[in-house]
Amino acid sequence: MAGAGISTPSGIPDFRSPGSGLYHNLQRYDLPYAEAIFDMDFFHQNPNPFFALAKELYPGKYRPNMTHYFVRLLHKKSQLLRMYTQNIDGLERLAGIPPQMLVEAHGTFATATCTVCWSKYDGEKLRPDVMSGRVPKCSTCKGVVKPDIVFFGEELPPYFLKYLTDFPLADLLIVMGTSLEVEPFASLADAARGSVTRLLINRDLVGPFAWRRRPHDVVQLGDVVDGVRALVDALGWTREVEALVAAGAEKAAAKTEE
Ligand code: OAD
Repeated sequence: MAGAGISTPSGIPDFRSPGSGLYHNLQRYDLPYAEAIFDMDFFHQNPNPFFALAKELYPGKYRPNMTHYFVRLLHKKSQLLRMYTQNIDGLERLAGIPPQMLVEAHGTFATATCTVCWSKYDGEKLRPDVMSGRVPKCSTCKGVVKPDIVFFGEELPPYFLKYLTDFPLADLLIVMGTSLEVEPFASLADAARGSVTRLLINRDLVGPFAWRRRPHDVVQLGDVVDGVRALVDALGWTREVEALVAAGAEKAAAKTEE
């Protein structure tokens, strides 16, 4: 399970960290309250703040870091059952984790939907509008097209229900870079079997690790990259993960040169 804290080492602010978190730095979007940026009613009145944020987060600007490549390595070693992420930055896909191994619980910029006639769009089709600060409009009905990001009050994507079959099968649950403050995602941590080790790698002690610790829980407090590096070292996987990071950087450099 992951949240915005795994992407801060890539340069993307998280939501709730005092000072640097997005919800503390939204003055420039002129919002009535911070979470309005993901509020459907507010979006219908004024979609501009959301699209200003979308321009910032639209896939392409940021690169995955070791935490993302660590999950990719777990997959490569057939050790990954699924990655449940709240992130909308697309860095998991960019790190090469196959979409079928991901549950992007709060949606994705990879696809979009017209808010009026529900026509579906590929996220790349919206890119020119988003990047030039225009609100994308539906080619069929001229309604506003919204990237498939889950707003407050919206249902989570149907594939979120995969947790019902995934979590009882997990032998280990790793929780990284999340405040575990947003439901229903946060409660997934309790869906793992009682006998299973839950490992938290995070700056803060959060959710059930803080207030309903189980006997097998393990906590690695501090920077998430340091925590992942310690785990990878202990597993003897350091060179492999570093090779994935290097290959990702090379690919990005080649793309920039194109
Ligand atoms: P939060 O900002 O609530 O929490 C991020 C957590 O990561 C905090 O506990 C930080 O201390 C920790 N953290 C940040 N950087 C770190 C680092 N370098 N090393 C270790 N820990 C670090 O973000 P989320 O839990 O992802 O909804 O927030 C959940 C949801 O709230 C988001 O998905 C978003 C928001 O409303 C949508 O986008 C729809």
